[in-house]
Formats: sequence, C-alpha cells, structure tokens
Amino acid sequence: METVCVHGENGYPVHIGGCILGKVLPGLLEGSARVMIATDSNVAPLWLRAAVGAARSGREVRTVVLRSGEDLKSAANLRTLWAALAGGGFTRQDRLVALGGGTVGDLCGFAAGTYMRGIGLIQIPTTLLACADSSVGGKSAVDLPGYKNICGLIRRPEAVLCDTQFLSTLPAAEYASGMAEIIKYSLVCRPGLTEALGSGKPDPGLLIRESVLAKKEFVEADEFDTGARMALNFGHTVAHAAESLSGFSVRHGEAVAAGMCTVLRAEAAAGLCRPDLPALAERLCLSYGLPVRPEGPGAAELAAAMASDKKATDGGVRMVLLSDIGRPYVREFSPDDLAGFIAGGL
Ligand SMILES: NC(=O)c1ccc[n+]([C@@H]2O[C@H](COP(=O)([O-])OP(=O)(O)OC[C@H]3O[C@@H](n4cnc5c(N)ncnc54)[C@H](O)[C@@H]3O)[C@@H](O)[C@H]2O)c1
Ligand SMILES: [Zn+2]
Repeated sequence: METVCVHGENGYPVHIGGCILGKVLPGLLEGSARVMIATDSNVAPLWLRAAVGAARSGREVRTVVLRSGEDLKSAANLRTLWAALAGGGFTRQDRLVALGGGTVGDLCGFAAGTYMRGIGLIQIPTTLLACADSSVGGKSAVDLPGYKNICGLIRRPEAVLCDTQFLSTLPAAEYASGMAEIIKYSLVCRPGLTEALGSGKPDPGLLIRESVLAKKEFVEADEFDTGARMALNFGHTVAHAAESLSGFSVRHGEAVAAGMCTVLRAEAAAGLCRPDLPALAERLCLSYGLPVRPEGPGAAELAAAMASDKKATDGGVRMVLLSDIGRPYVREFSPDDLAGFIAGGL
C-alpha cells in the first residue's frame, strides 16, 4: 500500500493499494459509534457487503443505496441522506462513507459538509475516475435540472481509500472514462506519465498514484479553486457544454477526452500550441478507447453552451489551453471569437 498525504501532516491521507479495504477502514472509523455507508444501485450488490463487514467491529453500520447515474447528484438525494443521518441519530462524532464513483462521492461530500454543519467523510472511490480524480480535493456538488454541479462546497474528506480491487468489476467504458482524466493530468503537468501512457498500459495503482500526486500539487496551491487549480479544467469547458447538450448521456470522461482533443486541434489551427500536440493527444485517447471529438453539436451550439457555463465571466469564456505538455495557461474568449476558435478544432 502507498499513502499520499494531501495538505501535509494536518491534511488527509489517500491510501492506494489492492485489497486494502479490510486492513485500512477499521482504523479510519475509530471513535465513531455509527457509520453510514452510502452507495449506488450498481455498486451495492458488488461491494457493499465487504464494506459493511470492514466497517462493523463494534459499531452500528447503516446503509443508503441510491439509483445510479448522474441523476444521483440531486437535491432530493441530498435530503434523503440528511434524513437518514438524522433518523439514525448521527452526531458529529459519527461518519459518512461514500462508496462509489464520482456521483456518490460528490453527493456525500455535500451531505457530510452540511449535516450538523459538518461530519467526517471517508471517500472510498470505486471507479478509476473517482480514484484518480474526484475523491481527492474536497469538491462536492449536486446538480439542478439543466445545471451540472451548480450547488456544492469545498471541504476536505478525513481520508480517501483507493482499493484497486473495486476496479475488477468496472465496465470497460467506465475504465476508459477514468483514463480521460488521467490523460488530462499527464498532459497538464506530468510529461513522464504522458510517455508511460504512450508506450504501454501502466497498472491502475501507478496511474492513480501519479494522478493523485498531480492533483495534490494543484489542490495544495489553490484549495478553493480561485487560480492555479483552474488548469485542471483543461478540456472541461468544451466537455461540460457537450455533456449538457447531450442531456448527460455522454460519460464525463468521454466528454473530457473529446474536449481536450478539440481544444488542441483549435489551438494548432490558430498556431497556439506545439503543432504535433493534437495528434499526440488523439493517439492517447484512441488507444484507451476514448472519443476525440464531440458527437453531434456544432461549433456555434458548443460555444453558446460554453458561454452559459457557470464559470463564464460577463466578458466571455475563460478556457485552459496548453502550449505544450506541462504548460497550461488561461485565455479569455469573447462570445464572438469563441465559435470561430472551436470550429477550428472540430
Ligand atoms: N469532485 C470532483 O472534483 C470531481 C472531479 C471529476 C468528476 N466529478 C464528478 O464525478 C462524476 C463522474 O464520476 P464517475 O465516472 O465515477 O461516475 P459514476 O459515479 O456515475 O460511476 C460510473 C458508473 O460506474 C458504476 N460503478 C461504480 N463503481 C463500480 C464498480 N466498482 N464496479 C461496477 N460498476 C461500478 C456506477 O454505478 C455508474 O454506473 C460526475 O458527476 C462528475 O461531475 C467530480
Ligand atoms: Zn473531470
């Protein structure tokens, strides 16, 4: 097992390893008389028993199972979690465990941060995307109809437990979706990882460790997402637009892969990046089964959706571009320029 500490000694550990659930979870729950494990309807039949067994030892364990999918991140489910915690007599000494992908983690982060003004949260990510990205950094959110991640907060979990055994049941398309975020980290700040991804298929433990180390740097520099952390949005401005235009039928990672490649092609067309960068990113994405352009929407439609994103400013849309591997920067586009720029990448 390896442990990465985010925010140093006063921060939180991210434990990474195979079959570590039973060894690590009991220690993380010390001091709690009650534990609530929230998960989704796909993960529950596969892994909930193992998690309950690991959590039990002398304490009361309750469970909440929510229907899987992006819809899980709803205000209604937030209320369901709050009610389950209140109904179970949970206090601030008790803990909430998020067992699942990024949807479960995002919802539980919000619930844990607000129930009794904050109870302890343990993240147990079960998708590659959640292990490598969403479980670290403290961002949580719920969606409103038509508005993804519109309400949420940033608050540290007590610990993250990435057990790679969970990935053994993950469908291939979900694994690929996680690879998109890992490719993003490699392009934004890990040239060595870009090479490793291009020359073989590194094992999940290494991919998770490298991504968590990369995310740690940005999160420590900018915990509340007011500056440097924005680089991690590379590919995401286009991705969020494509996801929302598809009614969230496209997986997040697929949209991110298509978004990154679109932005790089647009940059190359405008002479803003190393000319071979788009081809390199496309090769990586294709080799991990990911799309390299958004299906369906045209440049005007994408640009309009991007302009209505919650991160757009009054003046225009700020987007992360890469001049080279490891060299992200932010550029603001006026609504008039945006569609033309995106058209260069489609
Ligand atoms: N908080 C953050 O910093 C952050 C970062 C990136 C993404 N996100 C959010 O994360 C979400 C996407 O996360 P995701 O891709 O993990 O989605 P997800 O939670 O919907 O999981 C994907 C699918 O895999 C299933 N699944 C999960 N674990 C499994 C397992 N071990 N075996 C079999 N099936 C399993 C789920 O039931 C679901 O159907 C989005 O809502 C996105 O906004 C948040
Ligand atoms: Zn993402």
